Amino acid sequence: MAANQSGVDSFQLFPSANDNKAQLGFSFLDDSPEKPPIPLPPPCLEVLLSQVSSSVKPTLEPVNLDGLTLLKGRVSTHEVFALSNSDLVPGKYEGGLKLWEGSLDLVKSLQSEVESGNLSLIGKKVLEIGCGHGLPGIFSCLQGASAVHFQDFNSEVLQCLTIPNVVANIPVKSQSLAADAKSWDTDAEVRFFAGDWSEVHQILPNLQTDDLDSNCSPGSTVSVGYDIILMAETVYSISALPALYELIKKCMSHPHGVVYMAAKKYYFGVGGGSRRFVSLVEKDGVMVASLIAEVGGGSSNVREVWKLQFK
Ligand SMILES: C[S@@+](CC[C@H](N)C(=O)[O-])C[C@H]1O[C@@H](n2cnc3c(N)ncnc32)[C@H](O)[C@@H]1O
Repeated sequence: MAANQSGVDSFQLFPSANDNKAQLGFSFLDDSPEKPPIPLPPPCLEVLLSQVSSSVKPTLEPVNLDGLTLLKGRVSTHEVFALSNSDLVPGKYEGGLKLWEGSLDLVKSLQSEVESGNLSLIGKKVLEIGCGHGLPGIFSCLQGASAVHFQDFNSEVLQCLTIPNVVANIPVKSQSLAADAKSWDTDAEVRFFAGDWSEVHQILPNLQTDDLDSNCSPGSTVSVGYDIILMAETVYSISALPALYELIKKCMSHPHGVVYMAAKKYYFGVGGGSRRFVSLVEKDGVMVASLIAEVGGGSSNVREVWKLQFK
């Protein structure tokens, strides 16, 4: 993995058709017939601030985002998961330790949405799905959100990277990392949840999942859930898209909830992408999607930022 001049990891999510799959270490792209079965996902659990890793210490570096500087940590997948740096192993590790370009696109888009008056994060309940470094969630916190909940597949990512990143950008009130969501030097409730998209809703607060109409039919008066859902580079795996979309429907406050999604238009080698996800959303018919930013137009690897809302 290379670092560009701004210190941000620079890499391609999936190889182009001509790339050697094995070189990049995406073991699930290996065409060999003897693929190991995908293990059961790790259990869903809340990770407390006090559970920040004491053994893995990320190196902090600045990320410049159109005039805004945020800090991000750098840790190796070898240190945390005993995997080589480019590995992404379904069911074990889903890429949360790297900073993907889409998360920077997402912060920049949120910034311009705020500046143009299309978005206010003040007092909003925010969920960042597939957070990894968590920069969009951190930005929301700094912009006055009342709650920011970070979700990742792996508790290790939250312990070794997301929590240290939040601490680096939003100081905690006490020296001792008290295990409570109000320890931060901000009024926001900041919490961390690990688990697979198919089941993590069971532990997310404020979701009355038993009563919730998962289709959020028009006229429903459900007022629980998140005002704003953020996600970057989460739509690469075709098989994961239905569970991700169902999670969004369970979590999104009706009728005014909004999703901001940054992703590549198409992920070579695996077939997912923003267009595939938007097509799934449009077929379901309860939400409308609008493209708000395009990055790298003209190149073969266009990145996009989409906004989804209930009709
Ligand atoms: C490619 S990384 C992107 C990380 C970060 N959003 C960024 O852009 O830098 C994909 C993220 O989605 C999460 N993820 C992928 N598949 C998942 C699944 N089935 N359930 C829960 N989280 C998943 C991973 O843990 C990881 O944080």
